[in-house]
Amino acid sequence: MRPEPEAEPGRDRGTRREPLPPTWYGVRAAACGLAAIMAVLSAPAVAADDPFRPARLEMVDQIERIASLVRGPAVPTELDPRVLEAMRDVPRHALVPQAVRDAAYEDRPLPIGYGQTISQPYIVALMTDLLAPEPGDVMLEIGTGSGYQAAVLAELVDRVYSMEIVPELAERAAGDLAGLGYANVAVRAADGYHGWQEHGPYDGIVVTAAASHIPPPLVAQLKPGGRMVIPVGATFMVQQLMLVETDGDGMVRTEAILPVRFVPFTRGSR
Ligand SMILES: C[S@@+](CC[C@H](N)C(=O)[O-])C[C@H]1O[C@@H](n2cnc3c(N)ncnc32)[C@H](O)[C@@H]1O
Repeated sequence: MRPEPEAEPGRDRGTRREPLPPTWYGVRAAACGLAAIMAVLSAPAVAADDPFRPARLEMVDQIERIASLVRGPAVPTELDPRVLEAMRDVPRHALVPQAVRDAAYEDRPLPIGYGQTISQPYIVALMTDLLAPEPGDVMLEIGTGSGYQAAVLAELVDRVYSMEIVPELAERAAGDLAGLGYANVAVRAADGYHGWQEHGPYDGIVVTAAASHIPPPLVAQLKPGGRMVIPVGATFMVQQLMLVETDGDGMVRTEAILPVRFVPFTRGSR
């Protein structure tokens, strides 16, 4: 089988209970267009009697079934239970447009507007697993899209910084994540090629759009021992999901994990 890419109420979501420092509150409209920075505020989460929960649990069962079937020397057949638990908690339906809400828990990518997609749940689970997230980690995501991957990471690590090149998506995701109470996620509307140096180095970086190569500035923002997961390959073709690992001596190891198909990593045109 070849995968296709692409709450509990009234509590702050994510591992971090403290909101991000005040400098990240609100929308900081920066002077240059793409540098508008949206930070996420704490707010009530989804209802206790969430009617989507059974579908969400079924989605995670399906992810486990797919993981057990996918073959490849570096593909995990069992995913970290903490990752699966996070995906049982994140209300994916609340992060997709109303028009596709009923399909939110199907194991496939869905359109989120502006020609972009929210990735297939199995792929989100796999990429999160490959990052080996730990509670104290600080992670960077390139390609916020709907905010779903950021929310899954926010359940597992201390802080998530996420960059999105389409300003409208960045703004929407920041608002949705705030509405769900993810106080430990900050979203910035910008081209992520150069990363977000101010908050690095990072324990993990996840890139959710297909790049022609591994951006050197992102490798430079990984901590020693840090991991990056990134689809690499030509646009509109099958790409390779790559795991990039750094050691303390400046050595970088790359490993091809799985063929995938992602929307293109675009550069500074918006
Ligand atoms: C597959 S979608 C993202 C899925 C997202 N992680 C989610 O959970 O919904 C890829 C996203 O990467 C964004 N993107 C593409 N190139 C980018 C770049 N250079 N910097 C930041 N975002 C980029 C696209 O606009 C798109 O929203």
